[in-house]
Amino acid sequence: MVTVRRIWPVPGTSADLDDAALLGHYAYPDGLDAPYVRVNFVSSLDGAVSVDGLSGGLGSDADKAVFATLRRLADVVLVGAGTVRAEDYRGARTPTLGRDLPPPIAVVTGSADLDPGARLFTDTAVAPIVLTTAGAPAARRDALRAAGADVVECPDLEPATLLAELGRRGLHRVLCEGGPSLFGALAAAGHVDELCLTLSPVVVAGSAGRIATGPAADLRLDLAGALTAPGALLLRYARTGPADDVDPPIG
Ligand SMILES: NC(=O)c1ccc[n+]([C@@H]2O[C@H](COP(=O)([O-])OP(=O)(O)OC[C@H]3O[C@@H](n4cnc5c(N)ncnc54)[C@H](OP(=O)(O)O)[C@@H]3O)[C@@H](O)[C@H]2O)c1
Repeated sequence: MVTVRRIWPVPGTSADLDDAALLGHYAYPDGLDAPYVRVNFVSSLDGAVSVDGLSGGLGSDADKAVFATLRRLADVVLVGAGTVRAEDYRGARTPTLGRDLPPPIAVVTGSADLDPGARLFTDTAVAPIVLTTAGAPAARRDALRAAGADVVECPDLEPATLLAELGRRGLHRVLCEGGPSLFGALAAAGHVDELCLTLSPVVVAGSAGRIATGPAADLRLDLAGALTAPGALLLRYARTGPADDVDPPIG
């Protein structure tokens, strides 16, 4: 069991977080009546999002513990098809807190180019949700349905449309696990409420991308929490108020 300590907000009696305290640290706001989007990433100190095309090379026990904690708190895991393909995603294993089943994985894909034999469909306790459009080849959509997926033909794959679909299903506690293209799109559209970022104490250089790519975004977040653990700094940033409430730059 990895020891995780809180450094921000400044702890009262004890800085060490057990399982329950970790769940409390990452609790979603109460009484949500619309999707609240939390995004989770791990990156190297020099900002790389992957090593050899995978995020695993950046992981640590602490990062895995937080990854699992965030899933336990989520109604749905939202992820881009690029990540599903690269990381060979499978269904979440641990039930959401207070429920019998784990959160479904909801994959965003314009192409519907997912392997029906992949673990996403064969190794899961709940049906994955495939968010696509009628523009994706019908044969692929049919094959994913036959593989057990809940295939949704959205009018488009704009962030607002995706979140409206999740909201319609009552899936309000959204955990977006990337990748950079999907995060970039959510950020540019102003649909990110929170970013959980694990910094791994490595510099990897090379040509790996950053955690967000795509159109320019102007997402302002405040530091809402910081934890330390061997091999990781675990940061949580949350959306600030309207732009008018933000202090003007000095100078
Ligand atoms: N370090 C980390 O924490 C972390 C986390 C996640 C991923 N990663 C890494 O990130 C890499 C994958 O990145 P990526 O940017 O290619 O993947 P991505 O964001 O997961 O997926 C991009 C794909 O999502 C689909 N898509 C549909 N609508 C979209 C929209 N509105 N906005 C964005 N995407 C939309 C498209 O799929 P179709 O092509 O099927 O149409 C697009 O090609 C992998 O190397 C993975 O290991 C790292």
